[in-house]
Amino acid sequence: MLAAVAMMVVTSCSQNSLRVKRGKAPKMLVLYYSQTSNTKTVAQEIATRLHADIEEITLVEPYDTAFQATIERCKADREKGITPEIKPLKSNVADYDVVFIGYPIWFGTYAPPIATLLDKIDLSDKTVVPFCTFGSGGLESSIKDLDAKQPKAKIRQGYGVRAARMAAVPKEVEDFLARNSFTDGKFDMPEPFPEQHPVTADEAAIFDAAVDGYPMLNAKATTVASRSILDGEGTEYLFTAMDMPREKKADMPPASEIKVYVLVEKGKSPEFTQVVR
Ligand SMILES: Cc1cc2nc3c(=O)[nH]c(=O)nc-3n(C[C@H](O)[C@H](O)[C@H](O)COP(=O)(O)O)c2cc1C
Repeated sequence: MLAAVAMMVVTSCSQNSLRVKRGKAPKMLVLYYSQTSNTKTVAQEIATRLHADIEEITLVEPYDTAFQATIERCKADREKGITPEIKPLKSNVADYDVVFIGYPIWFGTYAPPIATLLDKIDLSDKTVVPFCTFGSGGLESSIKDLDAKQPKAKIRQGYGVRAARMAAVPKEVEDFLARNSFTDGKFDMPEPFPEQHPVTADEAAIFDAAVDGYPMLNAKATTVASRSILDGEGTEYLFTAMDMPREKKADMPPASEIKVYVLVEKGKSPEFTQVVR
């Protein structure tokens, strides 16, 4: 039984610890772009916990705050093959060992100001930790794009959170930093997911409840695996699902297979934490 498997408690005092390896505290910088403050909240949480320097990336011509106007400008910029001009950084990236880079996911990857940033700075041999906020997901695809732009950077596991789950940020950032040896905190390492099996009616109902009301998904779960987390206080599900376009339009992508992480905390409704496309 999954629930019967004891959680491994691992502390960050491992060989992985950056501090142990380097013999001195690494210099850390948190750089972020944020349009509506979600990413800013995560950036501040990270910087405060690590006593790191922090700098916001700002635009010479900020985006209009209206969603549709932002989309139109992004489309026009893309057609012209440009990304928005950013104001010069005050920080000298070369002075840092570890650079956290934060962004909202736009169109499946980091927002365009980060593309501008990545063309201006050199992250070769630096430890880079991506973090992002999103409506449904995009952490993995953005890390692939980051890796392609800065192939000599040592890109670490990133952190991503849905805009609808900002209340979870303090605890999740605390765990994330401990798990990656940036702090000495303890964290519970869940056991790996077992093999996927076809969804039962109960599991399908959990999936439907988790994605219910999210307008960008029209997905039906096919298989699932689950594991006990939060010291037995919750269950995490990894669903495989088919996502169908809601409307039949010529430019809509066909049905696609997605992975959806769902969290069910004891006494709470199911919520999805991330979609991986
Ligand atoms: C132009 C635009 C495009 C977006 N594209 C996506 C997307 O492709 N996937 C997604 O999950 N969320 C998408 N979002 C939602 C944002 O990632 C989300 O609201 C994020 O938390 C905003 O972060 P911020 O408050 O730091 O600006 C998009 C938002 C905007 C404004």
